[in-house]
Amino acid sequence: MTDLILGVETSCDETAAAVVAGGKKICSNIIASQIDIHEKFGGVVPEIASRKHLEAVNFIIAQALAEAGCTFQDLAAIAVTHGPGLVGALLVGVNTAKTLAYALGKPLVAVNHVLAHVAANYLVHDIDFPAVCLVVSGGHTSLLYLQARGEAEFLGATRDDAAGEAFDKIARVLQLGYPGGPVIDKIAREGNPDAFPFPRAFSGQDDVFEFSFSGLKSAVINTIHNLQQKGKTVPVADVAAGFQAAVVDILVEKTCLAAKVKGTKNVLLAGGVAANSRLRVALEEALAKEERKLFLPPPALCTDNAAMVAAAGWDLYQRQEFAGLDLNAVPVLDIGSQK
Ligand code: KG4
Ligand code: ZN
Repeated sequence: MTDLILGVETSCDETAAAVVAGGKKICSNIIASQIDIHEKFGGVVPEIASRKHLEAVNFIIAQALAEAGCTFQDLAAIAVTHGPGLVGALLVGVNTAKTLAYALGKPLVAVNHVLAHVAANYLVHDIDFPAVCLVVSGGHTSLLYLQARGEAEFLGATRDDAAGEAFDKIARVLQLGYPGGPVIDKIAREGNPDAFPFPRAFSGQDDVFEFSFSGLKSAVINTIHNLQQKGKTVPVADVAAGFQAAVVDILVEKTCLAAKVKGTKNVLLAGGVAANSRLRVALEEALAKEERKLFLPPPALCTDNAAMVAAAGWDLYQRQEFAGLDLNAVPVLDIGSQK
């Protein structure tokens, strides 16, 4: 019996395919990023993303198999992200995976992108459950309670913007380019995080597991505009550091709160923003004070990739939760509607 899962990921601006053995061992992990194409527009253009996925997906899958040293026949199943994400982009992966499953007579498994981010941790760590997980990316900021691998309960999420979305927006206003997270992370190291007292929504509210970043976004943009209107130079590093500190502080506070309320010793961090150097250190330190342990993927597995899709797909495959050939892309897919 083979334990090889082919993962396919096309939910946003990365066309990715990977082969993972037993939900753990990465045999190949190929990513074609479209960042250079979307960069000049300051964000992802959905139509262009779909077209680029279509051009790349077959080649990326072929490369993933070649690098893993296996053929289509060797696969146990095909796992694909079917939501949440950009509908046109998701459809490319979903239809490719359905075609492969049908032609090969292999099972198809439909993976929730948010749970795929969580599963990036399973590629590098052995976790004792239950655990709490903070998923922070360009599209999501959610706290989950994990009873076991592949079993998640929703605790709370952002009411408006995702944390990564706020990073991208502020970087755009500061004219730092796209994506904003890595560049703000870098430039903030030279700034004073206390120079601007930006707001931390829901701080101190111990019954709230939610986030809100739109007020913070407005506060940062207003600060920049006020300085510009007065003819002053915008201290980019200080603004970036202050913004990043506000995001990180509230992410850390709410994650610690969730772990405390749920009584879990282990905490996971996942998603593109989990690559943020300040967040990684601050969360680990805050949890250590409460004798909790932080697990997090290496930065390359935090951002979108297909190895995490294959890892999450393995759990569904083992439970024989297969998708039919009527599988569709679901742009808004919450945790409750799909394990
Ligand atoms: O998980 P991901 O690749 O895609 C989504 O599912 O959204 O996350 C991309 C997001 C972008 O908003 C990007 O700016 C952010 O992750 N990001 C970071 C860092 N690296 C990527 N945010 C903060 N600090 C970073 N180092
Ligand atoms: Zn993602």
